[in-house]
Amino acid sequence: MKAATITRSGGPEVIEVRDYPDPVPGPDEISIKVFAAGVNFADILARRGLYPDAPKPPVVVGYEVAGTILKTGKNVSRKPGERVLALTRFHGYSEIVVVKEEQVFRVPDNLTLSQAAAIPVNYLTAWQLSEMGGLGKDDVLLVHNAGGGVGLAALDIARHRGAKTIGTASASKHERLLDRGYNHVIDYRTENWTERVREITGGRGVDLVFDPLGGASWKNSYRVLAPSGRLGMFGVSEVTTSRLAGPLKYLSVMRRLPFYTPIQLMNGNKGVYGVNIGRLWNEKKKVRRWAEAILAGAGEGWISPHIDAAFKLEEAADAHRYIEERKNFGKIILLPNANEE
Ligand SMILES: NC(=O)c1ccc[n+]([C@@H]2O[C@H](COP(=O)([O-])OP(=O)(O)OC[C@H]3O[C@@H](n4cnc5c(N)ncnc54)[C@H](OP(=O)(O)O)[C@@H]3O)[C@@H](O)[C@H]2O)c1
Repeated sequence: MKAATITRSGGPEVIEVRDYPDPVPGPDEISIKVFAAGVNFADILARRGLYPDAPKPPVVVGYEVAGTILKTGKNVSRKPGERVLALTRFHGYSEIVVVKEEQVFRVPDNLTLSQAAAIPVNYLTAWQLSEMGGLGKDDVLLVHNAGGGVGLAALDIARHRGAKTIGTASASKHERLLDRGYNHVIDYRTENWTERVREITGGRGVDLVFDPLGGASWKNSYRVLAPSGRLGMFGVSEVTTSRLAGPLKYLSVMRRLPFYTPIQLMNGNKGVYGVNIGRLWNEKKKVRRWAEAILAGAGEGWISPHIDAAFKLEEAADAHRYIEERKNFGKIILLPNANEE
């Protein structure tokens, strides 16, 4: 089988399609013929050598897939041919993946396999941010990177819970964000977004912020919290813009990290929390419960992943470029078996 492989740290050109033996499922495992594999910002950080949780190259990355079951181990109750989605701890950019049965979920009939591949990382992250932040009716939620996969997932959840939404994104995405349901949009790259948030909220600030930018952005997001507001931090996209080399890029983010003291938090009536879904592998029951709630929402229609573009396996480098050039609106997927059709 073939898999798009990060051969060394570097630009998109370091990704090559390589041949591997077909993986064989063990007794509690399932092999999946991958129709669609999600591309995530973490894959780009891994390719650039900026993601400490990823194995060293050469490595096949990819946290999520959807496809059909090929083979099952002797202890597995699912049957070949079933449409499934799965969380994969790497190896998603492959024609075939093997995962434990506990990482596999049935795809609701009303979702395409491409949409199903867009669910695990983006929606579980947005769900965890919403749960930990206590997102509720009439809350005003500010989402940075609103046009990314997590940003659109957060919108589905916020709308379902009756919250109001403000999204920040590059200007080219604003019309589509409003069409999809964001109440307000801000271009965080050219506008003074903290002032705009104050204007929009009549000076009060927001109840909740989802912030994947890091550094100075976390400071400003904290400042725009209304009393009883909560800030959920879940990424450091800013790290890629530093001019320093390799892991030194983190210095630019670390230098501008905010410092929240318990007394400040108490007297400000504010809360801060962090989310890293990639480090919740030991909370299997909780993650499974969240995933089942999300898939039930997909079945009911209020969870509706948006696929912006699909690339063949040999175009994985183009998929990375597309995201790094900030062109994506929602999810980007790879189609590992596209050449077969
Ligand atoms: N902690 C977790 O568990 C977890 C899980 C999933 C994602 N994340 C993090 O959340 C963030 C968004 O993830 P996603 O999957 O929604 O992203 P995505 O779909 O890949 O979105 C990429 C978008 O991010 C924006 N962006 C902001 N800073 C950027 C930069 N320096 N370079 C390129 N693009 C930049 C761009 O849109 P605009 O310019 O329009 O904003 C770009 O189109 C990433 O930092 C990711 O690592 C964390």
